[in-house]
Amino acid sequence: MTHPIPIESTLDPALQRELMDTARAVAAHAHAPYSHFHVGAAVLDAGGRIFGGCNVENASFGLTLCAERNAVGAAVSAGANRLRAVAVYGPTPALTAPCGACRQVLAEFNPELEVHLFNHEGRHAVYSLAQLLPAGFTFQNEEPEKP
Ligand code: THU
Repeated sequence: MTHPIPIESTLDPALQRELMDTARAVAAHAHAPYSHFHVGAAVLDAGGRIFGGCNVENASFGLTLCAERNAVGAAVSAGANRLRAVAVYGPTPALTAPCGACRQVLAEFNPELEVHLFNHEGRHAVYSLAQLLPAGFTFQNEEPEKP
């Protein structure tokens, strides 16, 4: 899989650390009895608050919730409406990048969100969500044409 060219983070190193520590810690709570793939995500809102989420799998498979969307749900439920960054901790040597559905959900709260991917080996790469989701869907509040 080819990845875009990484960017420099705009977060100070202590804040990056805190965001990544939260993502890694919450991965321990993942409910992943089917894939055994424990993911943790943490989002940083515009006010500097951090919210974590883990993946929650389901016996029906299709109802599985990704870590990123659960972190967004926690943030929005606490009143966040603009996100600055997300960190995603994955349990493999290859970095875990958000799935397409999560990219679209993250873009709702900042299409240029800073996306930190990292793993247990100390690999860490930063991208802009605009690199990961070019031409994502946006809802123009115009009267749609009748088919
Ligand atoms: N998963 C996430 O939670 N986030 C990602 O970025 C990639 C995939 C979860 C969904 C499922 O529980 C497991 O990882 C394997 O796909």
